[in-house]
Amino acid sequence: MDQDVLLAVESVHKRFGGLVALDGVSLVVRRGRITGLIGPNGSGKTTLFNVITGFLRPERGRVRFAGTDLTGLSPDRIARLGLCRTFQLSLHPRRLTVMENLLLAPQQQAGEGLLACFLRPGKVWRQERQFLARAWELLAQVGLADHADAEAGSLSGGQQKLLALAQVLMADPQLVLLDEPTAGVNPTLAQHLVALLRTLQRQGRDFCIIEHNLRVVRRLCDEVYVLDHGQILAHGDPATVLQREEVLRAYLSRRALRAEEPDR
Ligand SMILES: Nc1ncnc2c1ncn2[C@@H]1O[C@H](COP(=O)(O)OP(=O)(O)OP(=O)(O)O)[C@@H](O)[C@H]1O
Ligand SMILES: [Mg+2]
Repeated sequence: MDQDVLLAVESVHKRFGGLVALDGVSLVVRRGRITGLIGPNGSGKTTLFNVITGFLRPERGRVRFAGTDLTGLSPDRIARLGLCRTFQLSLHPRRLTVMENLLLAPQQQAGEGLLACFLRPGKVWRQERQFLARAWELLAQVGLADHADAEAGSLSGGQQKLLALAQVLMADPQLVLLDEPTAGVNPTLAQHLVALLRTLQRQGRDFCIIEHNLRVVRRLCDEVYVLDHGQILAHGDPATVLQREEVLRAYLSRRALRAEEPDR
């Protein structure tokens, strides 16, 4: 596999009963680039994320990540390989605080087994301290440090997205798939998120982003794929792809066109 290619989706097919959700989708995510995935509602974007991250098994096709074939691996296993995702809707336990939500995130915690607490208390303690330090660092980076003790349920929609991002970064993944990170987020916070993702990318993290807001896509993505009815309709740099009249008119939802309006 080309060294630049971090993730390769190859001819993936997925159907739900009679409905063909993904009809031979192939795409690549390259290292050091932010890749966008756009397309109208119901075009198969989230289904593709679900296939990539092991939540759904495709009938045909395969997904490779950093040279490893992900076919048949569990979401948990895939996350441990360094490929994590956020969800379109917030899944945070609302009654837990922001910090508690973050501390729930890391995998392979030494203190998870009761026995380890007795046999290797030093290791458990050191690891807990590392997680705590990392959680504070990430909260500061996303701008939620002042909300560490707030219940997750009390956060605004935009803050919940920031929490989801911080939470996924606790596992220190190489590639993060974000499902509509700016949906329902006010314009100021959306700008903050765009700047934050750019910074994280410069620090060596890679992203693939499902996004309806085309301004965000233009500003953030190095390349973009357009999905329609489960097929890749167009691919290229956002400036070129989003200029194509037929892409805008025929294949993007009215919601996406509204997102182009200047007040967003
Ligand atoms: N678990 C499921 N069972 C049955 N049908 C499903 C399931 N998940 C998705 N679908 C259908 O598959 C198609 C693709 O859905 P998907 O959620 O991937 O679209 P999307 O591009 O993410 O849309 P949106 O922009 O609205 O989030 C839709 O017709 C949807 O109704
Ligand atoms: Mg979706």
